[in-house]
Amino acid sequence: MDNTSHNHFRTETDSDNIVWLHFDKADGATNVLNAEVFEQLDEHLRSIAAQCPRGLVILSDKSNGFIAGADITAFTKVTSKNQALDFLRMGQDVFNRLEALPFPTVALIHGFCLGGGTELSLACRYRITRDDPGTRLGLPEVKLGIHPGWGGSARMVPLLGGLKAMDLILSGRSIDGRTGKRLGLVDMVVPERHLQDAARKMVFDAPLPHQPAWYDRLSNNVLLRPLLAGVFAKQVAKRASKQHYPSPYAMIDIWRKHATDKPAMLAAEAESLGKLITGITAQNLVRVFFLQEQLKSLGKDKSFTPRHVHVIGAGTMGGDIAAWCAFRGFHVTLQDQSPERIAPAMKRAYTLFKRKLKRPLKINAAMDRLMPDHQGMGVAQADIVIEAIFEDAEVKRSLYSDIEPRMKPDAILATNTSSIPLEELTSALSKPERLIGLHFFNPVAMMQLVEVVNGKSTAAAVSAQAMAFTRKIDRLPLPVTSTPGFLVNRILMPYLMEAVVLEAEGVPAAVIDRAATTFGMPMGPVQLADTVGLDICLHVAEILAEHFNAEIPERLRKLVKDGNLGRKSGRGFYEYKKGKPVKQKAGSGNWNMEEITNRLVLRLLNESVSCLREHVVSEADLLDAGMIFGTGFAPFRGGPIHYLDAVGAKALYKQLETLKSLRGDRFTPDPGWEALLNSSGEETT
Ligand code: NAI
Repeated sequence: MDNTSHNHFRTETDSDNIVWLHFDKADGATNVLNAEVFEQLDEHLRSIAAQCPRGLVILSDKSNGFIAGADITAFTKVTSKNQALDFLRMGQDVFNRLEALPFPTVALIHGFCLGGGTELSLACRYRITRDDPGTRLGLPEVKLGIHPGWGGSARMVPLLGGLKAMDLILSGRSIDGRTGKRLGLVDMVVPERHLQDAARKMVFDAPLPHQPAWYDRLSNNVLLRPLLAGVFAKQVAKRASKQHYPSPYAMIDIWRKHATDKPAMLAAEAESLGKLITGITAQNLVRVFFLQEQLKSLGKDKSFTPRHVHVIGAGTMGGDIAAWCAFRGFHVTLQDQSPERIAPAMKRAYTLFKRKLKRPLKINAAMDRLMPDHQGMGVAQADIVIEAIFEDAEVKRSLYSDIEPRMKPDAILATNTSSIPLEELTSALSKPERLIGLHFFNPVAMMQLVEVVNGKSTAAAVSAQAMAFTRKIDRLPLPVTSTPGFLVNRILMPYLMEAVVLEAEGVPAAVIDRAATTFGMPMGPVQLADTVGLDICLHVAEILAEHFNAEIPERLRKLVKDGNLGRKSGRGFYEYKKGKPVKQKAGSGNWNMEEITNRLVLRLLNESVSCLREHVVSEADLLDAGMIFGTGFAPFRGGPIHYLDAVGAKALYKQLETLKSLRGDRFTPDPGWEALLNSSGEETT
C-alpha cells in the first residue's frame, strides 16, 4: 500500500488496486467545500483517473461526519452573480469529472452528509452509509434561501424520481441511511465495522446503479410536470411565500422545465443559484445561520459535565422541562407537592418519548431516566436544580431555604421565573452566586431558545455552566440581564397589545394576523396570544405595565374575566374547533394594511431599541437572535435591529412620531433612537 499526502486529502491504494480518497479538511474540525478544496479534489481525481484503479472510495477522516456542505463563510464573500457562477461551475466541473470516471466510485458515509456533501455523493456511482440515526443525508439549501447548485437536483431527480427528490429538496429535511435506502438514494446501509468491507464488495461486484421504479420515473414525465409543479408550489406556499422565500419556487421552475435533461438542469441550477445567493433573503438567512452558531458557541464550557437534573414543580413548564432533559439523556428527578401532581407530567413525557423515539426500548429507557420524586430526594444528588413552581417570590424563597442546605456544594440553582427579578430571590440563599434564571418557553419541546438570566450576584462561572447545560439539552442559550420581562416577552408584549387594541377598534382578528404574516411572522399576534393563553399574556402584560407605565387594553381583561383564555378554553379572540381557530373570511379592501403592519412592527422595534439602550443583551446581534429563535421573527429579515438598519432609523423614527400624533403616547420613540440616528449619520429633524 503506498501513501501520498496532500493538504485536505490523502490517498491510499490497497493491494486490490482500490484507491481510498480520505477527506480531512486541514484547517477545521468539519469537512466543508470551498474553492481550495475543489482545486485539490480536482487534482486528485485527475491523477486517480490516470492511475485507472479497480475502483475509488471517497471517505471522511473526521469523526463527526462525511461533509457538512459548502463553506458558508464563502457565501458572505460573494458579491456578484458572476463571482457566484464561477464558483458554482467550478464545483459542477469537478463533480462531472467524478461522475465520468470509468471505474466504480463509492461514497462511504458516516455522520452528516449535507448539501455539497450529498451532491458529491450523488456524483459517485454508489452510496454506502453507516447504520445509525446520527448519519444524515440531505439537501438543506432551501433553509438558507438557496437551492442545490452543484448538481444536487440534476442528479437526485433522475435517481429517485421527481416526487421523492423534490420532496427532499423542497423540504430541506435530512434522512438517515435506512430511509435513504428505501428511497433509492443509498445503496447499502451497514454497521460501522462493515463499512470498508461493504465498499470493497461494491467495487468488486459493481452492480447496476439504482434505477427508479416506473411510477417514480413517471413523475418526471413532461406531461405530468406542469400539474405536479402546481401541487409542489401549493405545498410550499403553506410554509413560505414566493415574495419572501423565492428559492423553492425557483427550484420547482427548474425541475418543471428541465427534469429529464441533465446538462440543461445543471446550467439552470447554477444560473438561478447565482442570482439567489446575492439576494437579500439568502444573505439574511445566512446571517440567521451565523446567529445560531453564535448562540451555540456561548455554551462551550467543556468543564461542566452535569448528569443529574432535579426539577421542582411538575406543572406546565416543570413537567415538560423534566421530560425534555430525560429525552436528551439526563437522569432526572421530578418533584411536586404530591404524587398526583406529578402523574400528568409523566403521562405527557410518555407521549413525547413515543413521538420522538418510536422504538419501545428507547421509550422505556427514557421513562427510566425520569423519576417521580415528590419528597425531593433528588436534590442532594443533582448537579442542577431547576425550580418551576408558582410565580410567587415568597413561595420560591421559602423553597430555596429548604433545599439549599441539601444541595451539592457546587450545584446550580436555576429558576424558570418569567417575571421575578433574581435579586428578589437571592435573600433566601447562603450562596446567591449559584442562582441563575433558565427561562424556557412554552411548549418546551418546540421552542429552541432559553433565556439565561443573569442576576447581580450570579457568578460568571455559573452563567457559563448554565449556557453549557442549555446546549447539552439541544437548546440555544441567550444571556440576558435580570430585568422585567427579560428580552423576548418584553419586546413581544407591546406588539401583542397593539394587536389587541386594533381588534378592539374593530379590525377583524384575521386581518391583523394577515398583516403580520404578510410581513413574515410565522403566526399572527392575535392567534399567538390565543395560543400562549390570554391569562398568561395578561399576567406578563401586568408585570411589564408596572415597570414601564404601559396601558393594558380593557378588551384583554374582559376576555380573561369571562374565562375566554384562548385555544386552551376553546375561545379567545378566535373560536376554536379541534384546536384550530375559525377565521372569518375578511377582505383587506377596506383596511389600511400598511398602517396596521406599521403599528404592530413599530411597537416591537421601539421596545427593541429600548432593550438595547438598557443593555438587556450585550449586543444587537443577540437581540436579533433572541427574537428569531424565541418568537420566529421573520427570519428572512435578519432580526428586528437588522431590519431597522435595512429600512433606516430615520424613516422609522418619523413613522413613530406620526403614529404618536395619530394614535397616542405609546408610540413615543424611545430615547435609544437618538444613538441609532447618530451612529447612522441620520438626524431626527
Ligand atoms: P403551573 O401552575 O402549571 O405549575 C406549578 C407547579 O408547581 C404546580 O404543579 C405546583 O403544585 C408546584 N408547586 C408549587 N409550589 C411548590 C413547592 N413548594 N414544591 C413543589 N412543587 C410546588 O405553573 P407553570 O405555568 O408551569 O409555571 C411555573 C414557572 O414557570 C413560573 O415561575 C412561571 O412564571 C414560569 N413560566 C411559565 C411559562 C408558561 O407559559 N406557563 C413560560 C415560562 C416560564
